[in-house]
Amino acid sequence: MSGGNAWGSRLGIILAVTGSAVGLGNFLRFPGLAAKYGGGTFMIPYFTAFILLGLPIAYIEWSIARYGGSRGYHSAPGIFSVLWPRRISPYLGVIGLIVPVGIYMYYVVIESWCLYYAWGYLSGALNLGTDVAGYRNFFDAFTGSTGNGTLFAGVSPMLISLAVCYIFNFFFVYRGIAGIERISRYGMPILLLTGLIVLVRVMTLGTPNPELPERNVLNGLGHLWNPPQNVGLGESLLNARLWMDAAGQIFFSLSVGFGVIINYASYLSKKDDIMLSATTAAAGNEFAEVALGGLITVPAAFVFLGLQGVGSTFGLGFVSLPAVFAHMPLGQLFGFLWFFLLFIAAITSSVSMLQPGIAFLEEGLHLDRKKSSAGLLLLTSLGTLFVVYYSGNLEALDTMDFWAGTFFIFVLALFQVIVAGWLFGVDNVLKEAAEGSRMRIPRILPFIIKYVCPAFLALIFIMWCYQNL
Ligand code: PFF
Repeated sequence: MSGGNAWGSRLGIILAVTGSAVGLGNFLRFPGLAAKYGGGTFMIPYFTAFILLGLPIAYIEWSIARYGGSRGYHSAPGIFSVLWPRRISPYLGVIGLIVPVGIYMYYVVIESWCLYYAWGYLSGALNLGTDVAGYRNFFDAFTGSTGNGTLFAGVSPMLISLAVCYIFNFFFVYRGIAGIERISRYGMPILLLTGLIVLVRVMTLGTPNPELPERNVLNGLGHLWNPPQNVGLGESLLNARLWMDAAGQIFFSLSVGFGVIINYASYLSKKDDIMLSATTAAAGNEFAEVALGGLITVPAAFVFLGLQGVGSTFGLGFVSLPAVFAHMPLGQLFGFLWFFLLFIAAITSSVSMLQPGIAFLEEGLHLDRKKSSAGLLLLTSLGTLFVVYYSGNLEALDTMDFWAGTFFIFVLALFQVIVAGWLFGVDNVLKEAAEGSRMRIPRILPFIIKYVCPAFLALIFIMWCYQNL
């Protein structure tokens, strides 16, 4: 039995892809990056990458997944070898399995912060009053970022919440992903509703600190959407790292380029509308990212922190959001709900990172579920312990995140576009996409897949190498 033929329904597959997409990337990583660059600057490459890379590559993945799935393959190495029958092609696919497993190793650490914060609200430990400094100290002490150079030096609550996260993840990995479908089905609508309520609160914050009148919500929103005041927009847009981060965020957030969609969607049939499913999952993800993640966290961080970094891209939401809850009726309840739902959203994403690996161990190496889960458990626990104890500090998390979550995924996306668009052929990709689809395939899509995607990826990559190496 490989990777996921235990799906309860076709809708379940779409929900699970959305569950994989919506996660810490939307609510923590995106706001962190938008705040770092100044949103106005970030949003231009971000939306460009969504239209020219994210969506087209998502269409490719859904199509080649179903094509490969109907020939009996459910993981990237197998599917690549169907698309381009050469000896090297499964190896290209294998690289694709390693990257999400690498991401899992640190993603689960941030997932465990969410769980710990949910617990903190439930137990009252996070009722620290309205001063943001209290939350900053809490975060620093908890993550050990002011400590002696190891991320969680001797902090046992952290290790306990990490262990709980591991238990959840491997429960779903071992038992199959039908359970993921169920938690996506209930968790996501509740997350959406809670998000909307918190959004209303953030939008009505006004100027919480009268001594700093410029720190108001309107200026916070401006920070997300206006071009920078001090540097010219043109000049900022010449920075290749900005484009790489923006495109990387699109891939990371949509779960595109990691072999996850390839695995999940390989169980669909010819009757399923993959164009519509791909578009729905991507649009749902973008709504959660820009409308909730962006509009909640960036203005909140502006109002309470003046956008000073907190040592990690992922960290911003852990300091600014508690300050919002402190200004809210039923703040303790909302604080708990918010972080608990983030934890659920993170679980549906982190489990998906392990699926391509499991499918490959079962399909390629013919291991049974027990052995493949145990192998992956051992490997990832060692990796996570390394992250926790030896990676140094919070900045190390960002560095890891850049290499695994941005750089390598860039290279992989390029491989994938070439294998699908050129070697398998864009016409074959789109023929598969059209089957069962009620959505019209945009006339420009073949051109985008064949020429724009590889040229765009290569250009950013070369520019980055030129500016950084
Ligand atoms: N899309 C997830 C998020 O935004 O949090 C992260 C993710 C899931 C990355 C699955 C990679 C992956 F394979």
